[in-house]
Amino acid sequence: AQLAACDSAWDGPAEELPKAIRACTRCPLHCHATQAVPGEGPASADLMVVGEQPGDMEDLSGRPFVGPAGQMFDNIAASAGLDREAAFVTNAVKHFKFAPRGKRRIHQRPERSEIEHCRWWLDAEIAQVRPRLILAMGATAAQSLTGDGANILSRRGKIETGPDGLPVLVTLHPSYLLRLPDPAAREKATADFKHDLVTAAKLIA
Ligand code: URA
Repeated sequence: AQLAACDSAWDGPAEELPKAIRACTRCPLHCHATQAVPGEGPASADLMVVGEQPGDMEDLSGRPFVGPAGQMFDNIAASAGLDREAAFVTNAVKHFKFAPRGKRRIHQRPERSEIEHCRWWLDAEIAQVRPRLILAMGATAAQSLTGDGANILSRRGKIETGPDGLPVLVTLHPSYLLRLPDPAAREKATADFKHDLVTAAKLIA
């Protein structure tokens, strides 16, 4: 079950939220990452897009969804009529979790406790933006927003209930599409993902 929302919600001035996120030491992930990556986009966005955690390029640049998964998202969003620039784009976990392998840093899935610690910041971003719809991309985002960590494949395309009763449209994570080795499976997953982005665009139109 999901922890109840914390009463002592972050209550600093809205413009200081990204700075507060960058200074976060609430869980050990900050020890290894280059920096925390706050969300970005219009403070009054109708749509909030939530991914898992920054990847290698996001960790280095300090901006969400600028690497391969971000490019995948941008391309499919554009073809689905969804304007990324109009959305607030963020992650369930604000620090990159990885295992060093030689010179490479290999992505590791965040633990449930890391997701729960970081929900403090996601809740603060949601309270600030107050979107009409949240798009949860992948299992970590869905877990953080709905408290349900069940498999995403049977849930995608459906609306679930998130913080403050906000509608959460669950979909695949763009990195999942990039990792699928079988071209036919990738084509099907890409079509499903695009379908969900079209749904999101229609819901906020
Ligand atoms: N994957 C994510 O979930 N978020 C990012 O910002 C980049 C890759």
